[in-house]
Amino acid sequence: MNEAQPMKRPLTEGQKRLLHRMPELKDSVFPHVYDTLPADNYINPERFRLEKEAVFHSEPVVAAPSALLETPKSYAKVDIAGVPVLLTRTADGQCRAFVNACTHRGTKLCTKDDAVNGVRISCPYHAWTFALDGRLIGVPRQEIFPGLEKDRLGLKELQCFEGGGIIWVGLSYDNDIDFGSVKGELSEDLAALGLGDMIVYKKATFDVKANWKLLMDSMLDSYHVTRLHKDSVGKFFVDNENVIDRIGPHIRNASARGNFEKSRVTDDFEEVRRIMVFSYTPFPNGILVVSPDFVSFGVVRPVASDHTFVDYYMLANKGEPSTEKMEDKLRRSFELMELTFGQEDYWAAEQCDAGLRSGALDKIHLGGMEIQITMYQDEIDRRVKDYVSKS
Ligand code: FES
Ligand SMILES: [Fe+2]
Repeated sequence: MNEAQPMKRPLTEGQKRLLHRMPELKDSVFPHVYDTLPADNYINPERFRLEKEAVFHSEPVVAAPSALLETPKSYAKVDIAGVPVLLTRTADGQCRAFVNACTHRGTKLCTKDDAVNGVRISCPYHAWTFALDGRLIGVPRQEIFPGLEKDRLGLKELQCFEGGGIIWVGLSYDNDIDFGSVKGELSEDLAALGLGDMIVYKKATFDVKANWKLLMDSMLDSYHVTRLHKDSVGKFFVDNENVIDRIGPHIRNASARGNFEKSRVTDDFEEVRRIMVFSYTPFPNGILVVSPDFVSFGVVRPVASDHTFVDYYMLANKGEPSTEKMEDKLRRSFELMELTFGQEDYWAAEQCDAGLRSGALDKIHLGGMEIQITMYQDEIDRRVKDYVSKS
């Protein structure tokens, strides 16, 4: 069997601009910028509470890649920053979000780790049953609830927007969430990568005893790649200049692979992904890194100041793995990613968290290869400060 020929995918204007700024490897210059951040931002439980309010409960947050609910008539759960979320894809393909709590006595309706196919969701406790649009459609022995207003006992709906291959939700029960920053350019860019047409090759969830921002930092730090990852993915990279820009609060980044040459740059994403790495940080909690044969998509889900879950999705083009060779490649890549993220990045985040909690450091120090951390943390900090000044 021949390996499937990837279709051509034109890059967006923004992606092309970024790409053409990339210098030849030999001309790479590291920015000389030095900054610090308060260590307290990572360890103070009050700061965590404020971040939950000012960021997670005030803005759109990344819940999952669209690929999680690949087909209509499916649903899945994802707990984010204290809110148990139920995502559904209805028969017409629309994605909706609800609080994953049965309206009888609050039990979590969906408890499975993987997406489920089905048109109704039955509570494991007393079997109240809900449709994918949130309606309460079944109450066993309904006569024992005289006067029960079934029509008013649908699931609590959350705001939801699906675009560019990401399912975004608003976790606030009271306030309108503005999804403006995740529509437009960000969604167009991700669509150009084909994210919306991808499938989940495999998923892993990591349980990390560290502050959630340390996990975001690990993705925004090009300083560690050839060092912490020297025995895993480090060999695919060289220390070089990243070209970075912003789409609102989201960071768009490109870095050259070791085989990068300016003369090989084209406007076709499928060719370009072989010589450089596009990565995005969909604000506030998404991670997206493009490899030649797959996309790594992470959803960072804070639990407490020192506790975070991360869903790692390996996404592949529809139809893959189309050959045994590709199956083998993806399987080995998944093992490598589990090692790189789980045993290296998230291990390092736990060590970092534990060291910071000693209270020995007032601040952390960030150099020119960590400027994306400064950019990202400034966005968080600004929101926390605005929130505090308004309350
Ligand atoms: S708590 Fe769900 S049916 Fe009772
Ligand atoms: Fe890393």
